[in-house]
Amino acid sequence: MDSSLTFCTIILTTALATWLIPAAASLVLLLGICRLASTGLSACTVIFRMFCVPRKNLVQRYGKDSYVLVTGGANGIGLEYARQFAQAGFSLVIVDRSEEGLRKAAQEILEVSSGCRVVLKVCDLQGLVTYEDFERLLTEFWQYDISIVVNNAGFMDCDRLEKATEEDVVGIIRTNCIAVVMFSNIFYNRLISRSNKSCIINMSSTIGGAPAKIVPMYAPTKGFVKFLSQGLAKEADRNIDILTVCPGSVDTKFTLNRKFIDTCSSKTVVNRVLDSMGNCNKMSGWWLHEIWDQTQTSLWYFNHGIYTHVMEFFGKYFGYDELINNIKQSRQ
Ligand SMILES: NC(=O)c1ccc[n+]([C@@H]2O[C@H](COP(=O)([O-])OP(=O)(O)OC[C@H]3O[C@@H](n4cnc5c(N)ncnc54)[C@H](OP(=O)(O)O)[C@@H]3O)[C@@H](O)[C@H]2O)c1
Repeated sequence: MDSSLTFCTIILTTALATWLIPAAASLVLLLGICRLASTGLSACTVIFRMFCVPRKNLVQRYGKDSYVLVTGGANGIGLEYARQFAQAGFSLVIVDRSEEGLRKAAQEILEVSSGCRVVLKVCDLQGLVTYEDFERLLTEFWQYDISIVVNNAGFMDCDRLEKATEEDVVGIIRTNCIAVVMFSNIFYNRLISRSNKSCIINMSSTIGGAPAKIVPMYAPTKGFVKFLSQGLAKEADRNIDILTVCPGSVDTKFTLNRKFIDTCSSKTVVNRVLDSMGNCNKMSGWWLHEIWDQTQTSLWYFNHGIYTHVMEFFGKYFGYDELINNIKQSRQ
């Protein structure tokens, strides 16, 4: 009995050593090579798009005298969208929460683009609940030929999920998700009948690709926008360009204008967005964020925790707690 057990053990060990282990190792290696190849291919595509594809003539593509609607256009990236679209020859409809902020933004835009027509609308998107609420708001704009919609308004939550109040949770979902779906849906059905091409730009974030502890609701809301927008791009009519924008850290009041090592300016992001319109349907806006976004979604270890730990480490190092408290106070 003992000798047959020893015999079986020897056979099994030999089989493991000569066949199973090398086979498993080869499989892991093969999967690794496939992953690396797909990441390399994505990186090459991004670099090609960045440096080799010229900007389209936007006014010709989307229509002379047409309007760009920007939500959250009184500050930060939204204001930069407004500036650059005005300079490119478009008129503007800007929606934001603060009347004073909107007035200042309009004044700033008109100083450099005096021929631009600017329509301002004070609206807290968080207060819109039903489909009818959104339709009522948007009906006001049907008198303008809106060709480009930028779903930009958004904010970051900033505490452990168990500390969030009902208002915190509902507020961020309404602003970052519901408003984006409603605007996309209602506009899509109008834009489809335009004779020129149209475009919907949705602001997601690199953080929408991986769970993150320090912003427990913000990351999923941006993941929602990323999936929604990329899905829409796949089914969209050829007459409507859908562009998903996934920046990393951008130097705005959203990040309290802090310059992290991986921070770029809103000018860079928006400039790249305008370059990419009609050329691709997803981008980040800056080469480093592009690499960040590509590797995050392509390499397995980012999806298995390292990304979250890196974020936490840098978060503490750069004083995320302070940033987070300031964000909370600024929304009260
Ligand atoms: N900055 C970044 O690092 C970064 C990175 C990736 C993605 N993003 C995304 O880019 C977008 C713009 O960010 P940002 O950095 O420009 O932020 P920002 O500087 O805070 O500007 C956001 C603007 O949206 C407005 N807004 C917020 N909630 C609103 C609501 N419920 N209704 C109407 N307007 C509202 C804000 O008004 P108040 O000033 O009154 O709050 C502000 O004017 C956001 O969707 C954000 O998630 C930003």
